[in-house]
Amino acid sequence: MFSCSNINEKIMQTRKLGWTGLNLSTIGLGTWAIGGGGWKFSWGPQDDRESISTIQHALELGINWIDTAAVYGLGHSEEIVGKAIKRLRDKPIIATKCGRVWDKDGNIFGRLRKKSIRSEVEASLKRLKVEIIDLYQIHWPEPDEEIEEAWATIADLIKEGKIRYAGVSNFSVEQIKRIQPIHPVASLQAPYSMLERRIEEKLLKYCSENNMGVVLYSPMQKGILTGKFTRERVRNLPKDDHRRRDPHFQEPELSANLKLVEDLRSIAEKNGKTVAQLAIAWVLRRPEVTSAIVGARHPSQIRETVVAGEWVLSKKDIATIEALLDRRRKALNLS
Ligand SMILES: NC(=O)c1ccc[n+]([C@@H]2O[C@H](COP(=O)([O-])OP(=O)(O)OC[C@H]3O[C@@H](n4cnc5c(N)ncnc54)[C@H](OP(=O)(O)O)[C@@H]3O)[C@@H](O)[C@H]2O)c1
Repeated sequence: MFSCSNINEKIMQTRKLGWTGLNLSTIGLGTWAIGGGGWKFSWGPQDDRESISTIQHALELGINWIDTAAVYGLGHSEEIVGKAIKRLRDKPIIATKCGRVWDKDGNIFGRLRKKSIRSEVEASLKRLKVEIIDLYQIHWPEPDEEIEEAWATIADLIKEGKIRYAGVSNFSVEQIKRIQPIHPVASLQAPYSMLERRIEEKLLKYCSENNMGVVLYSPMQKGILTGKFTRERVRNLPKDDHRRRDPHFQEPELSANLKLVEDLRSIAEKNGKTVAQLAIAWVLRRPEVTSAIVGARHPSQIRETVVAGEWVLSKKDIATIEALLDRRRKALNLS
């Protein structure tokens, strides 16, 4: 299950993605923010050259896989990933997603019909400048009644050699069970962080019992768990940064989250680490997890966070964190 990859002379721990032949570094690079500004779910302005440096730096550090999606920046994130890896002899593992389409005004819709998926895969291959997509994921199970059609189409695309493996994202156990008979599901991509723990209820167990890979997103809860946010920074987020609308960045959660981060800081510092590294190491403590997808928009950010892939938290620190999370839940009257 656990082994090491030697990429660009850097050794990084890898874990096997479920039953597939892919070995993923425990940190994957997330490229949502790299999609750039000016669309409904943007993270504010982003310099493309900085994005390309970030991707190249991540690979130099030993990260061996990149997560993107057609909808990130309405195609722009995939284009940037394509540019960054174009000249590489040893290409990283590329994971992308389908099922979110947009019109000329930037309105985004869930579409999972055969024709739509087929046209999406061709567009992604072109933007990424690759001949095959290593991991193709249905981004959201929407509309729910179309998931079987999408999955059957994706199974055909595997036979046609356009996709190596296929997974799902944001699916429930019940939805995964519906599509398993059509083609075995390689992986689940799901949110997981100290502030978002719903997959602990059923999904992690199901994935483990079915030998599926699990790749987690937003382990730093979009940056609030990095220790670099203040009330002032939240107030001054760019107008088109979607985090302005995110409840984790608004009261009453904001105060409780900033308090939690201050408490986490002492645990991190005692270990000679940062809060961002602690947040990522915490999600990787679960043996069901293959890899944490960590977003970055500057080389310095991924240089800091990559270290978390090797950090095994002590039982004592895990227990202290659990108590802090309990206190936060009670302060916010959450169950
Ligand atoms: N399947 C899905 O529906 C889904 C949903 C969400 C995400 N994802 C995937 O998962 C990836 C990761 O999730 P995420 O990007 O939402 O959240 P994340 O990894 O928790 O946070 C990433 C953000 O935190 C900030 N950051 C990163 N490193 C930092 C550092 N060292 N110091 C300070 N700030 C730092 C950056 O934003 P600032 O610098 O602007 O603060 C960065 O964009 C995404 O990029 C995407 O590939 C998938």
